[in-house]
Amino acid sequence: RQKERQTLHEAHAYAAKLYHYLLRNTEAGKPAMDYLRSRGFTDKLIEEFGLGYAPARWDTLVQGLHKQGFEAAEMERGGLLSRKQEGDGFVDRFRDRVMFPIRDGEGKVAAFAGRLLSDGQPKYLNSPESPLFSKSRTLYRLHEARASIRRSRQVVVFEGYVDCIKAWAAGVTNGVASMGTALTAEHAALLRRFAEEAIVCYDGDDAGQAAARKSIPLLEGAGFRVRVSVLPGRMDPDEYISANGGEAFVREMIDGAVSAVKFQLIYLRKSHILLEEDGKIRYLREAVRLVARRDSPTERELLLKELAQEFGVSLDTLKQEVLEVRKQEK
Ligand code: GTP
Ligand code: MN
Ligand code: MN
Ligand code: MN
Ligand code: MN
Repeated sequence: RQKERQTLHEAHAYAAKLYHYLLRNTEAGKPAMDYLRSRGFTDKLIEEFGLGYAPARWDTLVQGLHKQGFEAAEMERGGLLSRKQEGDGFVDRFRDRVMFPIRDGEGKVAAFAGRLLSDGQPKYLNSPESPLFSKSRTLYRLHEARASIRRSRQVVVFEGYVDCIKAWAAGVTNGVASMGTALTAEHAALLRRFAEEAIVCYDGDDAGQAAARKSIPLLEGAGFRVRVSVLPGRMDPDEYISANGGEAFVREMIDGAVSAVKFQLIYLRKSHILLEEDGKIRYLREAVRLVARRDSPTERELLLKELAQEFGVSLDTLKQEVLEVRKQEK
């Protein structure tokens, strides 16, 4: 058991080195280098993140692992190889993809995410669950970002690998990304050991904003103070940085991230037609419910003042409503 883990760690370390070498030093890796360059990846980023390339052939890693003395069936259990669809034998799991190595809590490569160079499905292929790798427990870059997260007492959570990398280049060294799945309570508890504040920096598209909304109770449940980045126009962090630069990203999206309840109010707005009287009333009623759930009286008062001003209702009326909601929900 322990022996198998060690073998799989060694195989992953070898695969990461091989993929990186193939990207950096071979003709086969050139399209992948061009692709990364076109997306603004510098040499420094490629090195820091250990990016690689898995060629289009079926047996690059099969051959390499064999020469190193690894056993193919064991490598299949580790997620590096796949069983042939027909007949005996094994093929490379990752083919013609840019490879993002993923480290576990020990700092060892334990999995990969591989991205296609062009459109196609699946866009990202991850390692399967294995003795080394569990998606619900792993966060991309947590091992590398841990010191920075501790120092700042803050963690920034991204949806995408590329977002996490480009934000790092912009100076956001306390970022992690969930592995293409929703954030879990396990993730939140893990992160909470290192920080008190979480910034949710998800894509601006509908899926990203919905995922951000769902992550709030999860993170607050783990004891985090939560803020959310509101990305404009369906952009993701990578696109925002490309369009506006790293400094603007840090200023507007990280330092400028809004409180969880502000985000919930912004989100709520999208589903109400505020030009109509009953839309306004329904919005206010739900807004009051959100405010009522906040524990801090100061926070509640500040939020209510803004709502009162915007909708031309008295602060006393809103306070009264909050008290009633709080009584009901107690
Ligand atoms: P780029 O197109 O390379 O910029 O990726 P992205 O991060 O912007 O992708 P997107 O916003 O579509 O998805 C966010 C995250 O979801 C990705 O970083 C992946 O972790 C995951 N994801 C996206 N597509 C797939 C897929 O086809 N399969 C799997 N397993 N995960 C995916
Ligand atoms: Mn190198
Ligand atoms: Mn998206
Ligand atoms: Mn995205
Ligand atoms: Mn993207």
